[in-house]
Amino acid sequence: MRLDKLLSNLGFSSRSQCRDMIKKGRVQVNGNVCRDMAVHVPDGARVTLDGKEIDTRTERCLMLYKPGGILTAAEDQRQKTVMDILPQQYRSLGCMPVGRLDKDTTGLLLLTTDGDLAHRLISPKYHVDKVYLAALDGEMTEEDERAFAEGIELKDFTALPARLEKADERLYRVTVQEGKYHQVKRMFGARGRKVLALHRCSFGSLILDEQMQPGEYRELTEKETAALYAAAGKAK
Ligand code: URA
Repeated sequence: MRLDKLLSNLGFSSRSQCRDMIKKGRVQVNGNVCRDMAVHVPDGARVTLDGKEIDTRTERCLMLYKPGGILTAAEDQRQKTVMDILPQQYRSLGCMPVGRLDKDTTGLLLLTTDGDLAHRLISPKYHVDKVYLAALDGEMTEEDERAFAEGIELKDFTALPARLEKADERLYRVTVQEGKYHQVKRMFGARGRKVLALHRCSFGSLILDEQMQPGEYRELTEKETAALYAAAGKAK
């Protein structure tokens, strides 16, 4: 990628301001001052600004502990979105949520700059498990468990088989491989139960980091990222 584009994509102000920084000799590539804004920066090159090293990776994957009360959307005119929680740098890089959690749903939200990876992770074709904890207004029965395992029929589609397990009193763990609009709530609704609270605990091999508090985020480790790519059948 061109040096000026790389710097602006990484969130270091506008393209013209980045060009200015380059012209002034503030940027070094692999130890040499570089005043050529159009120079191609190879992957893994060491880039510094005013002597400070810059993280030049343009592909990023993040986990966010989504708090309740905010939208999973790239932007919204009136309401706060998950993107408002993240520093500008991630938006400049094109980080987007992988699928959606409802406004009142809490827990693990994955974000990535890799649109193809996101698409695969939410496609039922790749069988990536999403595990939720649902607090209900009553108990489920063994018959409900069987109905979930067979695939709940909803108004507009039949949900793929899902696993339902009791976790505690009126608290159930449900594992699904697809993510249609309000799907989990609608599946319980079809069995006569109301979801009072919904929390996503894991997404594929990725488990919500127990050190994290609602509203916190972190980049995935190399190992976590590799496991996600493997689950999506995609080379990294
Ligand atoms: N299913 C739902 O009903 N809501 C969510 O937020 C996620 C899955």
